[in-house]
Formats: sequence, C-alpha cells, structure tokens
Amino acid sequence: MELMKWELGLWLVCFSLVPGLICWEFAFPFQSMYCQLSDACAFQAKLDDLELDLYRHVYGQHLAREVLVSSIIQFTENSTPMKPLVLSFHGWSGTGKSYVTSLLMKNLYRDGMKSFYVHQFVPTLHFPHASQICLYKEQLKTWISGNLSACSRSVFIFDEMDKMHPGLIDAIKSFLGHSHVMYGTNYRKAIFIFISNAGGDQINQVVLKFWKDRKDREEIQLEDLESNISRAVFNNKNSGFWNSDIINEKLIDYFVPFLPLTHKHVKECVRSEMFSRGLEIRNEVITEVVNSMNFFPEQEKLFSQTGCKTVSARLDFSL
Ligand SMILES: *[C@@H]1O[C@H](CO)[C@@H](O)[C@H](O)[C@H]1NC(C)=O
Ligand SMILES: *[C@@H]1O[C@H](CO)[C@@H](O)[C@H](O)[C@H]1NC(C)=O
Repeated sequence: MELMKWELGLWLVCFSLVPGLICWEFAFPFQSMYCQLSDACAFQAKLDDLELDLYRHVYGQHLAREVLVSSIIQFTENSTPMKPLVLSFHGWSGTGKSYVTSLLMKNLYRDGMKSFYVHQFVPTLHFPHASQICLYKEQLKTWISGNLSACSRSVFIFDEMDKMHPGLIDAIKSFLGHSHVMYGTNYRKAIFIFISNAGGDQINQVVLKFWKDRKDREEIQLEDLESNISRAVFNNKNSGFWNSDIINEKLIDYFVPFLPLTHKHVKECVRSEMFSRGLEIRNEVITEVVNSMNFFPEQEKLFSQTGCKTVSARLDFSL
C-alpha cells in the first residue's frame, strides 16, 4: 500500500521534528496531499496505450474513440481542472459501452476496474427501492465526498442509468459543476461516467439515415447526435435523467454515442474473439456465427440486435 508508506513516513518525520500534540495539527492537513503526490492513488494515465486499445479493440465507434481520447488527454494532463470530467455513454446494448469503460480504467489506474479509486454503482444493486430515495441520496453524497477527500483522482461510474429512479442522480449535481467550492478543490479532478441504453433509438435512426443517403458512417459528427441524445434522455420517463437538472444545467461535458454494429463489425468481433482464444481463424466459422445473429430493421437487416454481446457464446456453439 503506497498510501501507508507515505503516511508512516510523514508521521516519522513529524515526530522527530515536533513531538506531541502539535504533530496532529501538523500532519492532518497533509492527508489530502498524499493523493496528489503522483502515484499515491495508483493513478497512472497511459494515454498512448489508451489510444491504441481503443483503435485495436473497439469496432465501429469512431465518435466514441475521438471524443474519449481528446477529452481524457486534455483532462488528465491538466493539474488544475476547473470542473470534473462528466461523460455520458449512450447506445444500443452490445455496442461496447462497458467494454470501453474497462479499457479506460485499465489505462488510468494500476488496478483497472478493480482499483480502490474506481467506484461503480448499479441501481438494481445499490439503490433497489424507490421508497428509500432520500436515504440513497444522502448515502451517495457522503460516499462521493468521502471518496474524493481520500483521493481526488477518483472515478464514479453509474451503470444502467435507465434503471435509476428519476430524481436520485440529481443528488450529486453539486459535484459536477464549476462554481461550488464546498469540498475544497479536490472534487474537480474526479471523472464521472454515466452509462445507458437511452438515446440508442435516436442514434440508430441517424446511422440508418446516413446509410440511406449513401453517406459513409464515419462522416457522422458528434453534433449530428448530441442534442438528440440529450433531449431523448431528458424526456424519457424510464431514464434516470428524466427531467434532470444535470441535463438542464448542461453539467455533462460529452454525450458519447455508441453506434449500432453492422455485419462487418460483428465479423471483426468474432475474429478477435477467435484470436484471443488462440483458435485458427476460419472464415466459414465467422460467417456461421454472424449468420446466427439477428439484424434490424426488419427490411434492411443492417445492425446487430445485440451488438457483439453474444458473440462469445455463439462461437462456443459453432465450434
Ligand atoms: C466510497 O464509496 C464506497 C461505495 O463505492 C463506499 O462504500 C465507501 O464508504 C466510500 N468511502 C468513503 C470514505 O466514504
Ligand atoms: C435530431 O434532431 C434534428 C433537429 O435538431 C431533427 O431534425 C432530427 O429529426 C432528429 N433525429 C432524430 C432521430 O430524432
């Protein structure tokens, strides 16, 4: 434990210099400093590796790749950001939202998703009962401020935002903006990530429209999607962001769209799965797996219903 060593070191220095009670006064202000000292939170942004991982292992997501690489680089290289980085991931299931989150963590913290400083909340697990929203709100605030005073470079991931009770997430509003200085300046180095399927339909429609207009999907720009996504989650009663101040006050820095995956992308997923299992890459197996999957819309059959989510299980079946 890096933290322990620092702590012990400080105390030893402290006691040899100023014995007794004064030492308490002296040592405690340093508590939050441990973390800002380079490696103390096991925070180690490997930005080149992150970029490489997103290029090599994430298929069909040019927007997510561009937005994430530039926003994470800008944010982590700034030692005094003015506000935390707030990202919201949207898209159909199986398009890579959780996978990309784990790649981000892998390249930001020594222990990746398992890091002590990466906090993941799943509504059905952490906040199951609608009747206890008030309690959950208090808990959330206490946890976030507690965790941020232990380490300013903490990450908070809110999974399955579609299943979050509306209103609950607004409890953390004050942590997301610029202006409040209620928790010192520490909270400005945090990263918040929201994940949901909401907005997926809007994204799919835009991609379909590009296809119908015979335009390349890589030509889709963030601006083509951002306002539609934000409107969709704000107006959707089944979204944790329904009527949320977080959307209203524009506290989300980037809505990151995950586009629906086509035959070509699913093939790449199968190929990569075979490669990582050390299997011989056989085209007939790839074709069989892809053909066993469902594609929509009804007529065009362009996009995989489950993205790449079921590729691994279907591969087992085809072998
Ligand atoms: C940090 O957050 C976790 C939930 O992820 C919580 O259990 C823990 O008590 C928090 N730590 C502090 C110091 O508040
Ligand atoms: C997205 O928003 C634009 C206007 O901002 C609108 O014309 C378009 O129909 C919307 N697309 C979807 C799929 O909602």
